[in-house]
Amino acid sequence: MPTRKPLIAGNWKMNGFQGDGVALAKALAEYVAKGGTASFEMLICPPFTLISRIGEVLAGGVIALGGQDCHPRAKGAHTGDVAASMLADLGCRYVIVGHSERRADHGENDTLVAAKAAAAQGAKLCPIVCVGESENERDAGRTLDVVGRQIAAAVPPGSTAASLVIAYEPVWAIGSGRTPTTPEVAEVHGRIRELLAAKIGGAEAEKVRILYGGSMKPGNAAELLALENVDGGLVGGASLVAGDFWAIARAAQAAKT
Ligand code: PGA
Repeated sequence: MPTRKPLIAGNWKMNGFQGDGVALAKALAEYVAKGGTASFEMLICPPFTLISRIGEVLAGGVIALGGQDCHPRAKGAHTGDVAASMLADLGCRYVIVGHSERRADHGENDTLVAAKAAAAQGAKLCPIVCVGESENERDAGRTLDVVGRQIAAAVPPGSTAASLVIAYEPVWAIGSGRTPTTPEVAEVHGRIRELLAAKIGGAEAEKVRILYGGSMKPGNAAELLALENVDGGLVGGASLVAGDFWAIARAAQAAKT
């Protein structure tokens, strides 16, 4: 059995001002100082406006910092965009790419997501590549096809376990309070690992962390994180409540030790 240290990642989305963002990061840092993170890794991905400020709060601690998106180019005339190297410059180690909200709000397709993932790796950031089916696609029995196509297209060749995290986020589960059944989650995560093995080799694929995202909460985290191929969570709403996010992290600790 490979040891994959679970990653509990908070995606704050477009939420937070300096005051409440700093308070949330401080509250998490306090939980971590008391409880430790030896058996899991914790990450927070604030909006761009707060990364620098939250980085100051987290400096010297173990909670990692990440962005929610990056541009595929390294620099230049791209008004309003942020390069992966700029995130690295602020102390980020991760960046979410291909989130379904970016795919929906900004028309991002797999080709663009692949370019963003490669740009992140080029800047020494670890991309968290998001994949997942819509409700119609699930109802039509197309989940594995859709996720397979996304993995095939968006994972940069030559990725390693250190330079890649996958997040399986069924679009219909995000922010809805609904989740797939555990056998459904297990099926998709198992398939993702097989697809990764075909793409980057079995040994490396065994070490890649595959997160589940979509309405992960303290009440369902233990069950989801107990699944063999669920190596953490990408948490939206519950990551905005320090006690809930910490409870999910503790569930990861309990499930994987
Ligand atoms: P949610 O969001 O936990 O609020 O469902 C997860 C995500 O979109 O990453």
